[in-house]
Amino acid sequence: MDATTLKALDGRRIVLGVTGGIAAYKVASLASLLVKSGAEVRVVMTEAAQEFISARTFRELTGQPVGTAMFGETSNYRVEHIALAQFAELVVIAPATANFLAKAAHGIADDLLTTMILATKAPIMVAPSMNVNMFENAATRENLSLLRRRGFHVIEPAVGHLACGTSGRGRLPEPEELATAINDYFARSNKRELEGKRIIVTAGGTIEPVDPVRYIGNRSSGKMGFALAEAAARRGAQVLLVTAPSALADPRDVEVVRIETACQMREAVLAEYDRCDAVIMSAAVADYRPKVVATEKIKKSEPTLTIELEKNPDILFELGQKKARQVLIGFAAETTNIEEYAARKLEQKNLDLIVANDVTVAGAGFNADTNVVTMMARDGSREDFPLMPKSALAALIVERLINIIRLNEEAEK
Ligand code: PMT
Repeated sequence: MDATTLKALDGRRIVLGVTGGIAAYKVASLASLLVKSGAEVRVVMTEAAQEFISARTFRELTGQPVGTAMFGETSNYRVEHIALAQFAELVVIAPATANFLAKAAHGIADDLLTTMILATKAPIMVAPSMNVNMFENAATRENLSLLRRRGFHVIEPAVGHLACGTSGRGRLPEPEELATAINDYFARSNKRELEGKRIIVTAGGTIEPVDPVRYIGNRSSGKMGFALAEAAARRGAQVLLVTAPSALADPRDVEVVRIETACQMREAVLAEYDRCDAVIMSAAVADYRPKVVATEKIKKSEPTLTIELEKNPDILFELGQKKARQVLIGFAAETTNIEEYAARKLEQKNLDLIVANDVTVAGAGFNADTNVVTMMARDGSREDFPLMPKSALAALIVERLINIIRLNEEAEK
């Protein structure tokens, strides 16, 4: 199967749960197909699954750590089952054994996978696979029907030769069929909830001139903001991206305004603020600028050079003061006391959500392709996320935005 036919999988975040059945070997091909189709895949294996296929296979295929135990190495996951539960847009269990179905139906949480299942709000898809008698057993039938009533999606097992030597219903469908079922699920749910909404996203690090050839700047690449602009456009929004200098190409279906300084960014954002529905400020705005910009290149005549700086406007603070119906999402790049400082910014800048990144963590913050963040919302809720690509994080932030807009609209009715 050509991965390009599975278009709806691009950028989707899937947790793939593997339980202990002989068909577990087929799931390696499924993981590979999902990854080739652009999905972000995290694999969680039960202890029994590791008797059939090694975690290393999945680690190599997905390029990500594999969850194998409740109390194992937690790498970047603060609380692994919760982090995985929040990461998932869809959880797929393949193969799903009779034992797993029984535990899921009755809320038993005795390992990483079953605990994560209880903690996630993402839809869950199960692909049962077992001996035909086990599948037809009343206990399994009842467990499956209970799970269906609770909203689980069931991929029916195929009929054919079974590993136990018998034949009948119980075979795990082929990886291509499983991938197609997952793709179809996303194709159905690819909604454009932000249709008709205008959203401003800021990106990159502003630069503040010192003289005609020098400036004060920071290490922001624009990757986070560009990913956000693209994610919002994918959900149907009309997006204006106001970006400080960045080497990145314009994202698809996004209007781009390229500026240099904090004052120019402020002007570009304020010009559109009244008619927008939300602003996501991921830009690293310089807090200070040289008070005087030399008109000629400064010569290196003196042993020391002092440049006097003056404060730049705090754009997000100003947006918070002027806020009418707009949803405001800010970022906080911190090196210490992350939560305390982020909570203060949420309050002071009158935000709906703040995304705090600890920029001292490897793979997080400036110029990385990945990020590790904690999101804190106005309603007091807080979510910790594991290391993930900025594209996946952008999709998550846009989902939170959609939720806030929906709640605000419901409250207005
Ligand atoms: O561009 P990348 O390489 O992908 O890196 C992404 C990032 C690390 C820059 C991004 O994830 C991030 O953390 N952006 C915010 C960085 C920052 O300047 O944080 P802050 O804590 O100084 O500012 C808090 C908020 O106020 C931010 O939303 C900022 O955009 C805004 N702000 C800050 C200063 C200012 N004068 N005006 C503002 O609007």
